[in-house]
Amino acid sequence: MNQVLTDLQARDLRHVWHPCSQMKDYEMFPPIVIKKGQGVWLYDEHGKRYLDAVSSWWVNLFGHANPRISQALSEQAFTLEHTIFANFTHEPAITVAEKLTALAPQGLQKVFFADNGSSAIEVALKMSFQFHMQTGKTAKKRFLALTDAYHGETIGALSVGGVDLYNEVYQPLLLDTVRAKGPDCFRCPFHEEPSSCDAPCSQFVEEQLKEHHEEITAVIIEPLIQAAAGMKMYPPIYLKRLRTLCSQYAVHLIADEIAVGFGRTGTLFACEQAGITPDFMCLSKGLTGGYLPLSVVLTTDQIYNAFYDDYGTMKAFLHSHSYSGNTLACRVALEVLKMFEEEQVLDMIQHKGQRMRELAMAAFHDAPYVGEYRQVGLVGAIELVVNRKTKESFASEERIGYQIYQLALAKGLLIRPLGNILYFMPPYIISEEEMSFMIDTTKETIEQFFQERGAEIG
Ligand SMILES: Cc1ncc(COP(=O)(O)O)c(C=O)c1O
Repeated sequence: MNQVLTDLQARDLRHVWHPCSQMKDYEMFPPIVIKKGQGVWLYDEHGKRYLDAVSSWWVNLFGHANPRISQALSEQAFTLEHTIFANFTHEPAITVAEKLTALAPQGLQKVFFADNGSSAIEVALKMSFQFHMQTGKTAKKRFLALTDAYHGETIGALSVGGVDLYNEVYQPLLLDTVRAKGPDCFRCPFHEEPSSCDAPCSQFVEEQLKEHHEEITAVIIEPLIQAAAGMKMYPPIYLKRLRTLCSQYAVHLIADEIAVGFGRTGTLFACEQAGITPDFMCLSKGLTGGYLPLSVVLTTDQIYNAFYDDYGTMKAFLHSHSYSGNTLACRVALEVLKMFEEEQVLDMIQHKGQRMRELAMAAFHDAPYVGEYRQVGLVGAIELVVNRKTKESFASEERIGYQIYQLALAKGLLIRPLGNILYFMPPYIISEEEMSFMIDTTKETIEQFFQERGAEIG
């Protein structure tokens, strides 16, 4: 251990095993102990503050310690914290289900509650499979997923993921998923512009469906942004094509809106931009504004009805989690949905998204190390490349993004990267001044990094 640790850091490292981390890294870079949060800021044990530009893993919408949400949570905690959700129910869950079915793409009328994103994916995969088993399509035992997909890290979710970093070691345990090349607008094999293209890359899914549709249960996708793969963005037309293909080949479409739901892309749900209704829509993260773990799977009456029968037919969907439909989490979700209704949140995202684009384009458009600045809604991403013309990537072993992340933290900015991609996914309540700080500090840090590195870059 080369660092002088505070008492809390030392105690943490004695017993805590952190997610998505090589724990040996913590020898040089111990965990930052956060004591409080307010708005877009996190405050550490020394009082130093960090602008949370990644919304603490994409969950926070309305700022840390939001007074309205905290109040609702506190009141609920003194009334009912949790109840078994089989044979019992409660008003927060009922109202959340009513509101979500009213807001979701038309036709999604049933809501199944789980308690985190990966669990919602497991639910959708299992429901789709069981639906087909119970409607005579017993050959349907495989899922179709895209390259570079990310749907979580439980075994089923990993099976439909396509990011090697998370999957590789577990390959022997994973389901036999059919894989189709996904959209890649930055390095488009058809040399199309996303703003005008007709999604010719949907043919890769079509080819796989043509060959395998009789054994495929569902196609699973992240609408508009393949987030964990590096905020890879693609136009709504691609989604539209996939909806048509799924209907044509009688396979379900699972829309994983866990990262992009609740306004991130500028509309409440990303699917709206393509005017489609998926067969399943998975939601989590922003559902509780970053307060508590909760997830839901929305689906159609048609699918629900295939499970609805006398008990003895054994058609019920028996999936459950101890914290399914947790009362506190549902009460918070309800407050978040009310905020969308009452506070013109989508207009605010539109306005702030526009401002973020102006600032970021001015900062990064011509920067030599930036292959592309891309943005949808209030998600912006900077793809760092060795060479702008060839779009050659930095080797992942160089950990370019990770080094820049560390430098930015010293300046009070939290922009945890995805490989060579730095991104902005701030809470919606970020102010103009805070946005300028986020972008200026990122630019300054990238420049500092490359200057110190003395790299030749084109
Ligand atoms: C698109 C998508 N699906 C699923 C998940 C998994 O959610 P959780 O981390 O809550 O299990 C994530 C998490 O980042 C995600 O981005």
